[in-house]
Amino acid sequence: MQNHYHIDSLEAYNQACQDATNTPEDFWDTIARENFDWIAPWESVLEHDLSIPAVSWFKGAKLNITLNCIDRHLATRGSKTALLFEPNDLGQPAVAISYRELHVRVCKMANVLKSKGIQKGDRVCLYLPMIPELAIAVLACARIGAVHSVVFAGFSAAALATRINDCDCKMVITSDGSYRGAKTIDLKAIVDTALLSCEAVQSVLVVKRIGTEITLYKNRDYWIQPLLDAASGVCQAEVMDAEDPLFILYTSGSTGKPKGMVHTTAGYMVYSAYSFKNVFQYQEKDVYWCTADIGWVTGHSYIVYGPLANGATSLMFEGVPTYPDAGRFWEVVAKHKVTQFYTAPTAIRALAKESLSLVEKHDLSSLKVLGTVGEPINEEAWHWYDDHIGKNKAPIVDTWWQTETGGIMITSLPGITKTIPTYATLPLPGIKLALMDDTGQQITTPQGQGKLCITFPWPSMARTIYGNHQRYKQTYFSAFKNVYFTGDGALRDAEGNYRITGRVDDVIIVSGHNLGTAPIEDAINQHPLIAESAVVGFAHDIKGTALYGYVTLKNTNVTNQDQLRKEINAKIRLEIGAIAKLDKIQFTQGLPKTRSGKIMRRILRKIAGKQTDNLGDISTLLNPEVVKDIKENAL
Ligand code: WTA
Repeated sequence: MQNHYHIDSLEAYNQACQDATNTPEDFWDTIARENFDWIAPWESVLEHDLSIPAVSWFKGAKLNITLNCIDRHLATRGSKTALLFEPNDLGQPAVAISYRELHVRVCKMANVLKSKGIQKGDRVCLYLPMIPELAIAVLACARIGAVHSVVFAGFSAAALATRINDCDCKMVITSDGSYRGAKTIDLKAIVDTALLSCEAVQSVLVVKRIGTEITLYKNRDYWIQPLLDAASGVCQAEVMDAEDPLFILYTSGSTGKPKGMVHTTAGYMVYSAYSFKNVFQYQEKDVYWCTADIGWVTGHSYIVYGPLANGATSLMFEGVPTYPDAGRFWEVVAKHKVTQFYTAPTAIRALAKESLSLVEKHDLSSLKVLGTVGEPINEEAWHWYDDHIGKNKAPIVDTWWQTETGGIMITSLPGITKTIPTYATLPLPGIKLALMDDTGQQITTPQGQGKLCITFPWPSMARTIYGNHQRYKQTYFSAFKNVYFTGDGALRDAEGNYRITGRVDDVIIVSGHNLGTAPIEDAINQHPLIAESAVVGFAHDIKGTALYGYVTLKNTNVTNQDQLRKEINAKIRLEIGAIAKLDKIQFTQGLPKTRSGKIMRRILRKIAGKQTDNLGDISTLLNPEVVKDIKENAL
């Protein structure tokens, strides 16, 4: 079998698709064997039974992902920059960390974790800003076989505690605080609050970032720097089994509790590296920049593991796109001569609203590939990105994937396959897609619209939900038999290009962040004056989708509604984080329900979207009279 690790032409793409479809095991066997370092080979490439579901890739193989992301580059790329850190403040210099330095820093961090009792299989929570220590801590966990659970540092103490407790983290690594544009956030104080309800945590390591005063609790909290200074820079990599867990990452679901998606070692490594290489067509001297936070899956796969496995230079940005002004992204591109730039539609839309002079004063001629991820990109934003950032010379890769898929599933390949505005286009070789109709049948015509599914295992698929395999099966493998259901809708054109139409479940994507309606409603309903609530999405210029809450009060005589709106959002901020705040809150006399008591979200969505002409048949509702009131008072 030909090695398809790097697809560099349309013929190569077509050949790879053909080989991956006809002989998937040979396809992945060759890619894995010829492009990675293994301590011991596998007994079988793929074993799977999607009715359980149970999937294992490269069964029996032994490896350590950090040997592939760091050690194997030392001989040829030791002095090459692995991580290029651009701090929040312009006044602070960028920091280049070479592969050699990364090796020492990861080993030191790994030894510190060990000295605090962390062993293979233990879970470690990382609650850190976008500073090099976050990437280093991720790799240090992987070095010793500890399972990292990175929690986005914008989540509240309550949300952090839920995630720490769900997987029984033994340790938390955090910082005194973080910079976000002109603001600072006291992360350690948030951790302290969270830990009031987290019994399994034995130690907290603290990175000094902003220099505020914090409380160090005796025998639990430690400044990390003195420990790192004293630690050895040599740390043998733990021998991991192909299917040992590498990390847990939480994502929102249709019900209240977040889902801890478990990713394992070998398949994830192979697929994140393979997809990075092809989607970004990375070349040795390129400087690649993904603006995501490592707290999301995009940062795991395409800031840390995928790029480093390819010996790339990966830029990490601590700040926000609008600080000190809305030209910051373009300034950083020019400063570091970024060649591949990967961001989210919400950022593009926000920056497109600003003066073009903020773009034009920077030299963006280094850019070769532009990427987008996280939500559908609208046509206007796509063209702005293409015209003003890529100057119509840098192909846009609209990459569709999920926390659960571990890596990019649908995308164009820049310069190789076609780009079509608003279409993610084609699956990567090895990814078998299907659209299902409402009766649960696969749509067999070339063109069609339905629920997007993946019919065959791929190496980086999440293997389970931590501690709840039943929920994993129920969520992803029950809608259609023996097929992975994504939760998204899509349409396919006559040439087989896919366009994602959005979620078909109760997950709403706000500014590229997945939010379940259930946990937000739970937070609202905790307010003593509130009887019940329903949250839906509505179209928003910048966020793509924003949140509209319908709230029924226990006592409708409340006079200060604005105050109550503030309290509702404060509650949400406390329970989840500011990302889940509602843009609109309408007080209602009741919520439209079916006779079995289920809230009719379809109607609420239409009213929020100002499409009140055609609400469908409401006569079968339990309480049709509330619809009139909701319609009349819509915001
Ligand atoms: C949405 C992010 C349209 C989709 C990597 C998916 C997209 C969810 C795209 C996963 C895209 C992601 N076009 N929609 N290019 N990429 N999505 O888990 O609804 O944070 O199911 O993973 O984002 O979000 P998650």
